[in-house]
This record gives sequence, C-alpha cells and structure tokens, in this order.
Amino acid sequence: MKNIVLIGFMGTGKTSVGRMLAARLGCAFHDLDKKIAERSGMSIPEMFARCGEPYFRAREKEAVREAAGRSGLVIATGGGTVKDAENVAMLRENGILVALTADIDTILLRTSARGKRPVLDGADAGDRRAAVAQLLAERAHLYEGADVTVDTSARAPLEVTEHILQAIRIWRK
Ligand code: S3P
Repeated sequence: MKNIVLIGFMGTGKTSVGRMLAARLGCAFHDLDKKIAERSGMSIPEMFARCGEPYFRAREKEAVREAAGRSGLVIATGGGTVKDAENVAMLRENGILVALTADIDTILLRTSARGKRPVLDGADAGDRRAAVAQLLAERAHLYEGADVTVDTSARAPLEVTEHILQAIRIWRK
C-alpha cells in the first residue's frame, strides 16, 4: 500500500489532519519533524538555534529517505521539506502526494504561537504577515502538482480528512 504524504505550508494542518487520516485508515502516522526531534534529542527550534538550518535540512533528508522506503504510512512533512527536489522524488516514488493549503489569515492565526516556527520567528510581530506572504510566494509552486489539493481554510480537520479519503479512493485499491 502506498504512503499518503501530506505536504503544505506551515499552519495548513498537516499534523492534525495526518493523525486523523491515519486513524481512519488504520495505518501508522509518521511525522517527519517528530522523528527528527526524537532521534536527535532536541526540539526543531532548538536544532535551528544550536546547529543551524542546513543541519536541520540534512536530518530532514535522512528522515525522508527512511520514511519513503516504507509503505502504508501517513506521512506529515514539514513546510520546507518539498524545497528539496530529491525529497519530493523520494516521497513520490511510493506515495500519493496530498497538498494542504490555507489563506494567509488562517496561516497567521494557526502559526501565531511563538517559539515553534523558527523560520518565522525572526520577524517581529508587525512583520510576520510580510514574512509569511513572502515565504508563501516563494514556495507556492512547490505545493502545486500534488495528486490531491485541499484548501483547509475554515475547515475542521475532520472535514479535510473526509475530503482526502474520498479523493484518494481511486489510488488505494
Ligand atoms: C519549516 C516548517 C516546520 C519545520 C521547520 C521548518 C519550514 O514544519 O519543519 O520548522 O521551513 O516551513 P511545519 O510545517 O509542521 O510547521
């Protein structure tokens, strides 16, 4: 059975939807950031602060390779995982790519907690919208071309999950 791989910007619901989707399908939920943190013994923000982003991206790539080599998983990626074309190729090989999207206000609301998103925490409060807008513009094309795309703005995880379940039926015979 192919993996189901959730991709999308920070705050689009990859983790909460992924957990629910895995429960509905009766398969294991595999959260890349969580695996990276467990393996290294530090949180992702700690890793960014102590070792820098390139170190995190290298660990992320190892985690992708490991997950993509397995099957029957629901995999939640990090918002930046798909910046690396090799990561996308590995995940695509044995996976159905599901992109979650959300509008900028929804993303700002869902990512408002401080200390959790190191790529946004550099910007101070007033600049946060501009920082998100710029990153969204830079990354939008990376989330296009998935097998399924679901807008999660104003939708609860359960509704998004149902939508994905409908959409992936044709691939998961
Ligand atoms: C990142 C997103 C984060 C995490 C890391 C980098 C990004 O994951 O992987 O902080 O570059 O967008 P979430 O999308 O789960 O917040």
